[in-house]
Amino acid sequence: MRPGASPRRVGARCSPPATWGRTSTSCASRRASRNQGPPSTTGSGRSRPRSPRTDPQSSAVQWRSPSCSGPERSTNAEETPMRDAVAPFNVLMELDKGVLEPTDHTKRRHLSDMHGMYLEEPDEAAGDALVYTVHEIVVPESPDHIQCSTTILQPGRVGREFFMTKGHFHEVRGRSEVYLGLRGEGRLVMATEGGDHAVEHIVPGSVSYVPGGWAHRSVNIGSELLVFFAAYVGDAGHDYATIEDEGLPVLLTDAPDGPRVERNPRYTQR
Ligand SMILES: [Fe+2]
Repeated sequence: MRPGASPRRVGARCSPPATWGRTSTSCASRRASRNQGPPSTTGSGRSRPRSPRTDPQSSAVQWRSPSCSGPERSTNAEETPMRDAVAPFNVLMELDKGVLEPTDHTKRRHLSDMHGMYLEEPDEAAGDALVYTVHEIVVPESPDHIQCSTTILQPGRVGREFFMTKGHFHEVRGRSEVYLGLRGEGRLVMATEGGDHAVEHIVPGSVSYVPGGWAHRSVNIGSELLVFFAAYVGDAGHDYATIEDEGLPVLLTDAPDGPRVERNPRYTQR
């Protein structure tokens, strides 16, 4: 900051959710400092949350809240330009439900979204059942930031396979991710493009590390919801198409003696 310049205000205050039971917090309308709108999807099926970009002709990103009733932040035009500037914020998570309050974006995957990902097609009687829901906290797609989300995976099966997420590599292959199990019992299936694979447990309190270069898919092997939190480097992106085309080396199936890891007969190794 230049000598004599006034300090930059990084966050206006507004009321936290009543359920917080707190008298003071960072602005709950953190959208003031982050992205707006739903994710964009390209023709390749690779989707990424939409994010504001720093205008190269401008010295700062404008971060405005449409909902915060508090005083707007002030900016100092003479200040050193900031890239992907955000204000601190909190959200509240219902640990057993995975709901974030507030949530920036929610996406839901139904059986119709999972076409071709199971060995067998879903039974018509199942209809277009909900498979999983993802609640996202959207921040700029930058390595300076950390994307966070919760996933709620329903119990169920398609044929012998358990309900699962679509699975993805990160578009930026080197980007890693951390999972924190919150509820239920699941498996985290990981694989490299070279065909190596690993399967870790997801249970309440489990912390799983997904190194860069490993695709990852979660599987609900239990009879109740599987809920977990994930955090990953901001510019990681999602490459779903590779998994849709090639599959993962192994499957989780419901065998008489319990969940079984089986070779995926459809897997196509590069
Ligand atoms: Fe990921």
